Amino acid sequence: MASSSSSSSWCVFLVVFLGLVAAGLGQDQDRDEEPGLVMNFYKDSCPQAEDIITEQVKLLYKRHKNTAFSWLRNIFHDCAVQSCDASLLLDTTRRTLSEKETDRSFGLRNFRYLDTIKEAVERECPEVVSCADILVLSARDGIVALGGPYIPLKTGRRDGRKSRSDVVEQYLPDHNESISSVLDKFGAMGIDTPGVVALLGAHSVGRTHCVKLVQRLYPEVDPALNPDHVPHMLKKCPDSIPDPKAVQYVRNDRATPMKLDNNYYRNILDSKGLLLVDHQLAHDPLTRPFVKKMAKNQDYFFKEFGRAITILSENNPLTGSKGEIRKQCNVANKHH
Ligand code: HEM
Ligand SMILES: *[C@@H]1O[C@H](CO)[C@@H](O)[C@H](O)[C@H]1NC(C)=O
Repeated sequence: MASSSSSSSWCVFLVVFLGLVAAGLGQDQDRDEEPGLVMNFYKDSCPQAEDIITEQVKLLYKRHKNTAFSWLRNIFHDCAVQSCDASLLLDTTRRTLSEKETDRSFGLRNFRYLDTIKEAVERECPEVVSCADILVLSARDGIVALGGPYIPLKTGRRDGRKSRSDVVEQYLPDHNESISSVLDKFGAMGIDTPGVVALLGAHSVGRTHCVKLVQRLYPEVDPALNPDHVPHMLKKCPDSIPDPKAVQYVRNDRATPMKLDNNYYRNILDSKGLLLVDHQLAHDPLTRPFVKKMAKNQDYFFKEFGRAITILSENNPLTGSKGEIRKQCNVANKHH
């Protein structure tokens, strides 16, 4: 009796065990179909791809310095909105609004230079390298051009077919958003507090248009602003309702506007941050300790920045057979 019941329970055990093994194998097969991102994905299909991108970035940067700000900002605006899928680059169509035309994208520029890189890559290897990878690698090389660290990044992303303009506000914080909400949005992607503090260091370069600042100047000057910085801001933004066509802006970092460096942290500790979110980063108890540490230690800033950019660049990519390799970065391929 005892021995037969134990042998039948062995049988049950074996069946369950084999079932689990089979399920495990099935999962592995699924994983094989979704290869994920890897280093140097194009080493066989287009061995020169990364060199062509690096060379184009250097050439374009020489002629149009501010295009590097755009490459850096693009990685945030594309990858943080659900996926690094180059959806940011799609133009408006009859059916859908482009992400580029939403309020969060205000000031994004220089898309034509991404097209220049794509064209150079297409000449060598037509329809092999995704716009999503070109966007990410141009950010990697743009960061170096701006004096930032070299961050090795994986490739193998494919391009999405549709704009995500209807959800950008869920993923991209506004200029005046609270720190806790900013931390939540980045936290959902796996980026922790020092990672967020480091990413905002991107505001060490480039510019901010008056429309995003005037709330801190009119009808009265935000008392939290450093009074030494106010006259400059008022001079650059003389109207409480800026003329949208006048292209009025303030440089993010007056001392080293072209350098990705930790001067941003000294500025915001000194209450010279332009956006409300920049100011709060230095004054919220959750983020202030990291701001202080990055202000003192550029290596620490670069280390955290590299870690956070890596996570951002790997946010939910389309790989394997998902998505497509776009022929032109601003339009999805036609279906037959
Ligand atoms: C809380 C998150 C963030 C908010 C609310 C925010 C908001 C803004 C705003 C309002 C501007 C000014 C745009 C203009 O007037 O032309 C700007 C510029 C910029 N942002 Fe952010 N940003 C955030 C995070 C990031 C991140 C994570 C990066 C990159 C890693 C980034 C990179 C840049 C760059 C490089 C510029 C200058 C662009 C130029 O001069 O063309 N930002 N940002
Ligand atoms: C943030 O700024 C926008 C205008 O850019 C404004 O409509 C909104 O009310 C502001 N939000 C807060 C919380 O102040």
